[in-house]
Amino acid sequence: MSSADLGRPLTVALLGGGTVGASVARLLIESARDLEERVGAPVVLTAVAVRDVAKDRPGIPADLITSDVHAVASSGADIVVEVMGGIEPARTLILEAMAAGSSVVTANKALLAADGATLYEAAGRNGVDLYFEAAVAGAIPLLRPLRESLAGDRVTKVLGIVNGSTNFMLTKMDEEGVEYSDVFEEAMSLGYLEADPSLDIDGHDAAAKAAILAELAFHTRVTLDDVYCEGISHVTSGDVRAAQQMGFVIKLLAVAERTDEGVIVRVHPTMLPRSHPLAAVRGSFNAVFIEAESAGQMMFYGRGAGGDPTASAVMGDLVTAARNRVVGGLGPGESTYNNLPVLPIGDASTRYYVNLSVADRPGVLASIASAFSDNGVSIQVVRQDGHGDEAGLIVRTHRASDAALRKTVEQLSGLDTVRQVLGVMRVEGEAGA
Ligand code: HSE
Repeated sequence: MSSADLGRPLTVALLGGGTVGASVARLLIESARDLEERVGAPVVLTAVAVRDVAKDRPGIPADLITSDVHAVASSGADIVVEVMGGIEPARTLILEAMAAGSSVVTANKALLAADGATLYEAAGRNGVDLYFEAAVAGAIPLLRPLRESLAGDRVTKVLGIVNGSTNFMLTKMDEEGVEYSDVFEEAMSLGYLEADPSLDIDGHDAAAKAAILAELAFHTRVTLDDVYCEGISHVTSGDVRAAQQMGFVIKLLAVAERTDEGVIVRVHPTMLPRSHPLAAVRGSFNAVFIEAESAGQMMFYGRGAGGDPTASAVMGDLVTAARNRVVGGLGPGESTYNNLPVLPIGDASTRYYVNLSVADRPGVLASIASAFSDNGVSIQVVRQDGHGDEAGLIVRTHRASDAALRKTVEQLSGLDTVRQVLGVMRVEGEAGA
């Protein structure tokens, strides 16, 4: 495509007519004049491929709807927007679109995290664009800042609240003191969880987003299989209370960090100081906190899901891909030149919170302290709660490796002075941590 084509209408075909697809179709039609000005050429929606043509789809012109997904994918539209989700047939359709010369805009986090390399390779081979801002944290401009604005800096750490449903649940537990099982029921009844709730509560959705963020941040290929993943179902009201007493809040965090040895990417419930900017992210909002060597700390905040917010990110990509067509250029391709080793969770080093139900008699603290020191884990704070049969100890540690902490917990569980290990959680975001 060259600038000689300036003014020629650009065509857009849509794969998927669900909540996001319907919002994209509506925005394409309603904003046609603005889009023409912003792109430098008219932008025309030519087809919307859906699985079920009989379903009522307000906002999508009926004559554009078809069930022939392959015909739409390979129609040679300037831009094909994929908002179907899932690995297949989305991957095949995207590859068909690229082979037909279409640039692709997708919101498909699962596909990008599982097999982004195949999409990038096909985009490069066919000389087309691949944009996917909506795949992580919905409306929040985040991937373009990582891919472009921070391209001259060195990102060292990314901390993200990237799953709105679990943030809604943990916020309720924090504000109302309720148990996990109650907020799970509420989230289910409000329709806040994915059709397979495990994607949200077990951290898999956040893990896919973490893989995408880590790859962009560290210029190193990261896939879903590289991400350590732990969900929120074991978080208790006791953990929430203990966090509150220490001035912390519990969040499901996606963490991607660069160490001297490589890259570690993990998703797990995390205690954060209430003074940390991410601690203020309540309800279903998302936010991502990035640290880069020259820029320092920055935070991106907004709506991480929903038809219109996600469509906003898709539209931004669509305008960018359309402009590239008009001027005859391409956006950034895959950047994995760093090729850093992706390390196992055992190599991660964080501070920890350990909540123990203990016997209340002389020597108990000494035996517990030994379990930590035997494994080289240094204690930062110890706090006793209750006494007699109700005695509890909360220990916060200095930085320790995941492996050392696991061994410590094993040893603690075997002590006759420890009735039960009630909770273990990583701590992030403290000064110097
Ligand atoms: N289930 C996801 C969330 C939807 O709660 O954030 C957006 O990916």
